[in-house]
Amino acid sequence: MIKKLFDWLRQPLGLIAVGIAFLALFSLAAYGIHYTQQAPAQPVQFPHKTHVAFGIQCLYCHPGAARGPAAGIPAESKCWGCHNQIAKTQTSALLAPLKDSVLSGTPLQWVPVAQVPDFVQFNHRAHIAAGQNCENCHGDMSKVTVAENPQIFNMGFCLNCHKKVAGDDHVKLVKLTDCGTCHY
Ligand code: HEC
Ligand code: HEC
Ligand code: HEC
Ligand code: HEC
Ligand code: HEC
Repeated sequence: MIKKLFDWLRQPLGLIAVGIAFLALFSLAAYGIHYTQQAPAQPVQFPHKTHVAFGIQCLYCHPGAARGPAAGIPAESKCWGCHNQIAKTQTSALLAPLKDSVLSGTPLQWVPVAQVPDFVQFNHRAHIAAGQNCENCHGDMSKVTVAENPQIFNMGFCLNCHKKVAGDDHVKLVKLTDCGTCHY
């Protein structure tokens, strides 16, 4: 039976069938990888790279990270503070949606990319106060053009660092790994 199958596969038709099966598998895998690593369709193709290269601080646009649970996304008025003085704003196709948003008073609808589920309590302030850098969790945003889902915020990601941070401090270890610290 197996031998018959192999003989058939060696025929031209068999080879074509193998080729098609291989291509189908490959494109499925390629689609899967492409789909999960794709940046969502944002209202503006906002390039972190360009802005960080100009020396604009993360906290200038995401001040909530130092103050509370959520880092926040800047309002259009903050963008416009710079962009109404930048010549390129008048001509850039990338900036047309920002201009429309400001002129019409309709907020941009950003699609979240860095997220944990609702049953997880995460607070930026506690982490920034403890000296953690944005890069520790978000990677190097100075290389990012349009932000992609990092797909790293699973439970192990949090617990690995919490165990490292606690070290030999048993009380801290219990607190930072207690279910109720992150789920309540
Ligand atoms: C000029 C303003 C600006 C600066 C500076 C800036 N960001 Fe952002 N950031 C944005 C905007 C607008 C978005 C929403 C669009 C997007 O997700 O690409 C965003 C999105 C993000 C996101 C994804 C959040 C989500 O779920 O949508 C992360 C993480 C982030 N920024 C981190 C950083 C870090 C770290 C720095 C500093 C290295 C930084 N940002 C500097 C404006 C800025
Ligand atoms: C502190 C000043 C500043 C702020 C705030 C700022 N930008 Fe920019 N942005 C710049 C500069 C400078 C450039 C580069 C302009 C150039 O290449 O001539 C730029 C470039 C861009 C580009 C690329 C344009 C192109 O054609 O290459 C986009 C898109 C953009 N900004 C969107 C935004 C959005 C959306 C916000 C608000 C969330 C924002 N910017 C906030 C200074 C700023
Ligand atoms: C200890 C890890 C950690 C550090 C450090 C950290 N973040 Fe985050 N960040 C997260 C997690 C987890 C989320 C998802 C939170 C959620 O869904 O409630 C997030 C979400 C965000 C978001 C989108 C949602 C929001 O909170 O508004 C932005 C923007 C962001 N972070 C920016 C920053 C910036 C800027 C810094 C540095 C000042 C920073 N983060 C430091 C883990 C971190
Ligand atoms: C890169 C290291 C790191 C990562 C990753 C990390 N944390 Fe933390 N976390 C810390 C540090 C440091 C503290 C402060 C510990 C202390 O009390 O000294 C902390 C404290 C906390 C606290 C207690 C806050 C308080 O008010 O005392 C919570 C809740 C928490 N983290 C949730 C999370 C969640 C949820 C994630 C994953 C999405 C996460 N952390 C990922 C380093 C990290
Ligand atoms: C430091 C924060 C943190 C602590 C402590 C923690 N969790 Fe989680 N937990 C998370 C995060 C973040 C997720 C979301 C995982 C994801 O989205 O993939 C999660 C997800 C879960 C889920 C959903 C299934 C899954 O794995 O996605 C369950 C169930 C869960 N946690 C139970 C627990 C229990 C039980 C404990 C105590 C032994 C605990 N967690 C302690 C951060 C934490």
